[in-house]
Amino acid sequence: MSLERFVAELDSFYLDAGTSLASAGDAAAVEVARVEFLGARSGRLKGIQKTLGALGASDKPAAGKRFNEVKEAIAALLSNAQARLIADPSDPATDAIDISLPGIPLRIGRLHPITQTIRRVEEIMGRLGFESVDGPEVEDERHNFEALNIPPEHPARDPLDNFYVATASRGGPLLLRSQTSTVQIRVMECRKPPLRIVSIGRVYRPDTADATHYPMFHQVEGLMIEPGTTMAHLKSVLRYFASSFLGGDVRVRFRPSFFPFTEPSVEVDMEWGGRWIEMGGAGMVDPAVLTAVGYDPNEVSGFAFGLGVERIAARRWGVADIRDFYRNDIRFLEQF
Ligand code: PHE
Repeated sequence: MSLERFVAELDSFYLDAGTSLASAGDAAAVEVARVEFLGARSGRLKGIQKTLGALGASDKPAAGKRFNEVKEAIAALLSNAQARLIADPSDPATDAIDISLPGIPLRIGRLHPITQTIRRVEEIMGRLGFESVDGPEVEDERHNFEALNIPPEHPARDPLDNFYVATASRGGPLLLRSQTSTVQIRVMECRKPPLRIVSIGRVYRPDTADATHYPMFHQVEGLMIEPGTTMAHLKSVLRYFASSFLGGDVRVRFRPSFFPFTEPSVEVDMEWGGRWIEMGGAGMVDPAVLTAVGYDPNEVSGFAFGLGVERIAARRWGVADIRDFYRNDIRFLEQF
């Protein structure tokens, strides 16, 4: 057989099949056309395919290509015809779809438990007038350490305890922030008191992942700078936050501690359901920090606190292993 004849046959097949499919008025007619033209056993296309073998070797590639084009084009026309007929399911001429069947349920997604926690913290703190602000995750040493009164020899600055990423072309090294306290500095640098802010975001530390550690986690940073602010305000704000977040009667306990950027400093524990757990650190903003951002420590004072988001989320929902938050196992995430 010649290539010309083969192509001519394909063309007339294409014309016939196209016409039949276009004029098919109901699902039964489409099915008849499908069997006649595309049927796997004795459809016309099948017949043409058999003649492919009779072509000369040099004609085969072109013939095969043309054959596939026509086959695809007719398959597309067939699904158009099928779609056209089911487009009007109330038309009794077609039984392509049973409109009495229940529909396909839509799966509705939900917010990740960490996102839910963040929103809730923002909402609770918002009631107390704390505005939610953001800061960069890639930081310089001034905002992560220096302005926070963390001297070069401080162990927190050990390169092995931080994710240094690059050296800026101007200015010093850059790192993934190890704490959200950076945002205290960023806000105070460009605003004047009074200030009430919370900043919630990711922080990074090269810890080995286990049930209570992960190299990336989230912190809530709170900062309030207002005339007359004291530790009593700090405790009231944290207690209000804790009982709003966990529900019911939560006790808050301060234990003396040390942070370079607060003085005095405390560890914050919360008691809920009969058990005390450590939630984070807090204290009165150190005068050295106020000076570093151009405030006069004789005129202004305030408090800051930092809480672990995973920790409070795990506490609220009784999650035993924080790695579960990041495994993206739907069976876990669906529970929240
Ligand atoms: N930034 C501290 C930390 O990462 C927590 C903290 C925040 C302590 C604010 C005091 C005041 O552990």
